[in-house]
Amino acid sequence: MNSPQIATIVNEYLELADDSCVAILPDVLRVTNALGLPDLLGDATVPVGELACRAGCHEPSLRRWLRGLAALDLVHYEPDDAVRLTATGQRLAVGHPRSVRFSTSQHDSAVAWLGAEDTLRTGQPAFNSVYGHFFDHKSCDPKARQAFLRRMRERASRLYPRLPSVVDWCGSRVVMDLGGGDGSVLAAVLRHDQRLRGVLFDLFSVISLAAHDPASPLSSLPGRWSASAGDFFVDIPASADTHLMCSVLHDWSDEESVQLLRNSHRSLPPDGRLLIVELVLSDGDGSHPGIWSDLGMMVLTGGRERSVPEFDALLRAAGFTLVKVIPIPDSDFSVLEASPA
Ligand SMILES: C[S@@+](CC[C@H](N)C(=O)[O-])C[C@H]1O[C@@H](n2cnc3c(N)ncnc32)[C@H](O)[C@@H]1O
Repeated sequence: MNSPQIATIVNEYLELADDSCVAILPDVLRVTNALGLPDLLGDATVPVGELACRAGCHEPSLRRWLRGLAALDLVHYEPDDAVRLTATGQRLAVGHPRSVRFSTSQHDSAVAWLGAEDTLRTGQPAFNSVYGHFFDHKSCDPKARQAFLRRMRERASRLYPRLPSVVDWCGSRVVMDLGGGDGSVLAAVLRHDQRLRGVLFDLFSVISLAAHDPASPLSSLPGRWSASAGDFFVDIPASADTHLMCSVLHDWSDEESVQLLRNSHRSLPPDGRLLIVELVLSDGDGSHPGIWSDLGMMVLTGGRERSVPEFDALLRAAGFTLVKVIPIPDSDFSVLEASPA
């Protein structure tokens, strides 16, 4: 989306900000998802009374809510007081190839944004004042962790599905996905190149879920991967020749990122390589989506999005040399390849 398009949207938003759908849209999407309405509807046409029963809702209130969803083109009313999802509404259901089910329903992030002015005053993520550090909270709260992991899976398959095909994996044998979440990105890489083996590295709380989940994307690749639980700020096992970090560095400050990169550098062989996948800010593009993600990182995690020179500085500080930057087609993300030499 370019700057004039964004300006048009902002102007229309300001016109409609009072008593209109745009004023309440994020909350409508979050609550619709929290009630599980899109998944309860699936492909079926369901009478409103039955939907109220299945979702545990007050029927007259749900009927008014659905009238709003119909006005937003998310559901369609059928004869006999029944509803079904429209094509747009299907994107709220789990399993749609471009689903935003979990991207529009992160309750804790929505609460943290309510206090974002604190971030502007203190420079600290507002998330911390409500819940403590982002990843400590996800580790301690199983519901928040599960929702976050599902959001990460949904986001990776929507935002960088072509990652495996832009990297030349010839020089790699074992790929460790650091902060690899539920393993969906690693599974895509292993499926792309049958020679590769993988190590999924993440916090214990994440690995204990991901490694034993029969529905995990890695479960269809037995014998080709192992799981390793730990803290990448403390130690990274030396069991891979390639490190992958997708949407990881943007969670952390420059100091924390250098510490993490130093640990990666220590654990890689001299002929190994590091692959960083991030939105890369560019000075000339005032509407790059990294700008919005950067605000999200500022409010939620205390991290930031970065430009190529900023990545280069972090890599040098940790002993790496930036080798190349590969834009991922049909994506706003790029792969930054670095060598420990
Ligand atoms: C933004 S998510 C990215 C997930 C995945 N790489 C992707 O692209 O969808 C960051 C990941 O880093 C993990 N993480 C956070 N702190 C960590 C730590 N200290 N050690 C290891 N993993 C950590 C989180 O649990 C989470 O899975």
